[in-house]
Amino acid sequence: MSNIYKSEPIRSSEITPKQVYLSRRDFMNAATVAASAALLAACAPSAADEIQNLRPVPSSTAADELGSIVNRYEDITQYNNYYEFTVDKQLVAEEAKGFRVQPWTVEVGGLVNQPKTFGMEDLLKLLPQEERIYRLRCVEAWSMVIPWQGFTLASLLKLVEPTADAKYVRFESVYRPEEMRGQNSLLYPWPYQEGLRLDEAMHDLTLLATGLYGEPNVPQNGAPIRLVVPWKYGFKSIKSIVKIELVAEEPATLWNHIAANEYGFYANVNPSVDHPRWSQATERRIGELNRRPTLMFNGYGEQVAALYENMDLSVHY
Ligand code: MTE
Repeated sequence: MSNIYKSEPIRSSEITPKQVYLSRRDFMNAATVAASAALLAACAPSAADEIQNLRPVPSSTAADELGSIVNRYEDITQYNNYYEFTVDKQLVAEEAKGFRVQPWTVEVGGLVNQPKTFGMEDLLKLLPQEERIYRLRCVEAWSMVIPWQGFTLASLLKLVEPTADAKYVRFESVYRPEEMRGQNSLLYPWPYQEGLRLDEAMHDLTLLATGLYGEPNVPQNGAPIRLVVPWKYGFKSIKSIVKIELVAEEPATLWNHIAANEYGFYANVNPSVDHPRWSQATERRIGELNRRPTLMFNGYGEQVAALYENMDLSVHY
């Protein structure tokens, strides 16, 4: 196996106690006051990156297993893709203010022996929370490093007992056009939906994230519960999930429905398969000036390459 597939994800609980996040946050709060409003107004990733790079960076802080420091809490929560609210990444947080995340239920059903609708509080009690630092690589060629907490999707799926006929998992986001003005756009087939093959869904890296930086998720990051599949482009990591369904056939996804040639079902991060409209060979890490090479499977190849052993990834992109 090639070396670029090599990566050892580490649980953030092993290396980044909450006080490290918090002291980093305090540091950044104190150090970046000057870099405030005008800088946040930068819109395109390129402009934003150049500006963010002027901000001071703490000398020692939490990092992923490849040595990249985690992004600032402010970056992670102020630069978002959440089309149900708006397509402007820097306005999502504002638009999502006040979005109701309580009460919240997640219906888990389809081809399972024990279908069940879980209240969010039950999920938090039933399934042990873990902390994990993951890279997030958006299909638009920007990336971040995010300290999540949550539980594995596998731990939830085991509770409902998928049947032998279940081959895929379908996910659905909340549909509330009265609160999410982007859902009034007819350009998209709402609600947002996504899917994974069952073995991908059961993989230990596949997380249902309930929070980040030790805090519960905020609406713009997909509160109260969102998927995180770190070796796939970010659009697979569906936010604010209300329904999870085990199915026999590959499910439709919102992006695949809109442009099948641009957004495949698998969407594995792959620097050698370009998006039809741009290269995927490099990426802009939010907070850095220079582009960095994109890693096959976003650096998680050692864990996941075996899932695709007999597949041509330029065909199943
Ligand atoms: N989920 C929903 N429901 N709606 C969205 O617009 N955007 C996706 C994904 N999940 C999206 C979504 C995309 S394109 C990316 S890159 C990630 O969320 C961004 O997650 P973040 O804003 O928490 O960084």
